[in-house]
Amino acid sequence: MGACACGYTTDPDKNCNGTHNVVKAVKADLIAKLEAGGFDDAVLHLKNN
Ligand code: FES
Repeated sequence: MGACACGYTTDPDKNCNGTHNVVKAVKADLIAKLEAGGFDDAVLHLKNN
């Protein structure tokens, strides 16, 4: 494990502690829900950022 690159680590020393996996899962879930709701612009924005 090295330095966190995603920016969302909960580690006090800013090392990667696996939080990026949670971020990824939440993002995928959000995208799925927005897609289901027809918020295509928001989906595109999330996918590109
Ligand atoms: S890269 Fe940020 S927690 Fe892994």
